[in-house]
Amino acid sequence: MIATILKQVSFFSGLSNTELNKVLAIAGTKKYSCGQLVFAKEDLGGNFFVVKSGRIKIFTTVGSGKKKTFAFLKKGEFFGEMSLLGGKTRSASAQAAEDSELFVIPRKNFKRLILENPDFTLKLMHTLVERLNKCDKEIESMLFHNILGRLADAILELSKDKHSKPVKMAIDQNELAQYLGTTRVPVCRAINTLKRSGVIDYHRGELVILNAARLRSISGQAE
Ligand code: CMP
Repeated sequence: MIATILKQVSFFSGLSNTELNKVLAIAGTKKYSCGQLVFAKEDLGGNFFVVKSGRIKIFTTVGSGKKKTFAFLKKGEFFGEMSLLGGKTRSASAQAAEDSELFVIPRKNFKRLILENPDFTLKLMHTLVERLNKCDKEIESMLFHNILGRLADAILELSKDKHSKPVKMAIDQNELAQYLGTTRVPVCRAINTLKRSGVIDYHRGELVILNAARLRSISGQAE
């Protein structure tokens, strides 16, 4: 029963039954309600997590409350590996962005999984490379794009798993501002510019992409 659930979680889906059984033997689960902190930046790292359901926000807070969202992680994605592999303390905070359930694997068992299961380790490395790529692109975007291009980039990134036509997503302006590491006012202005040019619609926290090709072009991505 739990094995069937684990198989549905993409991070575990490629593992053999033997490997899956090893994970089963060591993973617990824990529920978090929307808004609840899983851990805070600088906490000592103790566990590795995989999202079983819901959505987890990874973010950092700087100085007097400035926030930067690094990622929203959904079913099948993992977090908490950095402090277990490298630095001892958490590099960012993790918070449930909606009611969520997590697989929890303690440090000692996580290290054993890495050493004994090459498929697991390869999957982990593959995802870390993807995240590094995304960070490089974000640095490029911050240095060379204006707020409009960065907003277009963020909308495309945050909506990449939405398959409705037209693409719709629920996100408020504060969340968008935190994702871009800026404040609400410039984001509000940029949203209005995109609205006026018919690229998106945005009303009461619901964003609709009306012209995806134009959005990609504003973000600097090839059409
Ligand atoms: P750790 O440092 O243990 O705790 C915070 C976690 O956030 C970190 O491990 C990673 O799993 C995750 N994390 C940090 N930066 C990013 C990022 N840019 N994208 C996705 N996840 C991240």
